[in-house]
Amino acid sequence: MPTLAHSMAATTRAARTVPVPLGGRSYDVLIGPDLLTEAGRLVAGRLGKARCGIVTDENVARHHLAALEASLRAEGRHKGSIVLPAGEPTKSFAALGPLCERLLEMGLERGDLVVAFGGGVIGDLAGFAAGILRRGIRFVQIPTSLLAQVDSSVGGKTGINTPQGKNLIGVFHQPSLVIADTDVLKTLPQREMRAGYAEVVKYGLLGDAGFFTWLEQAYEGIFAFDQETLVTAIETSVKAKAAIVARDEHETGDRALLNLGHTFGHALEAWTGYSDRLLHGEGVAIGTCLAFRFSESLGLCPAGTAERVARHIEAVGLPTRIAGIPGGKADADELVRLMGQDKKVRDGRLTFILTRDIGEAFISRDIEEAQVRAFLADEIAAA
Ligand code: GLY
Repeated sequence: MPTLAHSMAATTRAARTVPVPLGGRSYDVLIGPDLLTEAGRLVAGRLGKARCGIVTDENVARHHLAALEASLRAEGRHKGSIVLPAGEPTKSFAALGPLCERLLEMGLERGDLVVAFGGGVIGDLAGFAAGILRRGIRFVQIPTSLLAQVDSSVGGKTGINTPQGKNLIGVFHQPSLVIADTDVLKTLPQREMRAGYAEVVKYGLLGDAGFFTWLEQAYEGIFAFDQETLVTAIETSVKAKAAIVARDEHETGDRALLNLGHTFGHALEAWTGYSDRLLHGEGVAIGTCLAFRFSESLGLCPAGTAERVARHIEAVGLPTRIAGIPGGKADADELVRLMGQDKKVRDGRLTFILTRDIGEAFISRDIEEAQVRAFLADEIAAA
């Protein structure tokens, strides 16, 4: 177990703080190595006398729960821990009810904290539970996947899935603090790490061409856990997200830019039954390549841009084409139908995030269904 002095040294060396400015709901995202062992001190220092009810999953618990509990106990802040099955089915009404009841039985009061300690599933579920428990109590996100550290833990989207679709039930409920410990990522399966990277690259592609160019050079350092590179990549991503969330917390406008690659990606995820065939980030990787190829086919973005994007995504080991999904051939009509179920549908029209170039994404509501169908049919035929 590292000593506090060791932790402090590591923290001052590489930890960064990104503020999310939302008036009375503002909070910080702390990013760096070895933060888990400091979590108790960080929570106590920033959030007062609150006691913490940890919500986590079996995989995270096996590797990291003891360290987080010890850190909270050292500050007298640990109230209890709830360990749930890992995986998407946990983000459901079936899991939410018992979770809320267990948090109440734990004795969490209005001033206390739920600690969402896991990836996107746990963050969304535990955040939603916090949002409705006693009509809303505070919560802390301690994201343990790259995807959660750069995206889902920041911005206050919480919720569950239903048979009608993903994330259709939920609330905006901002965390009071986000602690992203980059060391925790070392126990993440490589496939999950790559899938999370799709969301990192998204920030370059949607609004920061310089960041994308940097990633083209630096990405190997991220996967080698070079702390400076990894922390910089997460910090840059979180800064981009914080800026967008600050100007459009409830997604009435610009926040939709964060869905670059997601309209196609969500349809592919639904088509593969949210199974192991395609992780969310892998769907986003293919969806991002599709968004660039679609933009190029519409004459919106310079020729060769989509190829450059796909080259980088492929170099990382992510899929770039629908044909890269194992286990069956897709159908354009079916994918268009699944896109219609996406919650970003407004007045029956799909919202697409298209691009004028790398770093120049924009929101489009002018796309005809027939154009998308024809594009997807070509993509599927090109396999
Ligand atoms: N993950 C997209 C958003 O937070 O808006």
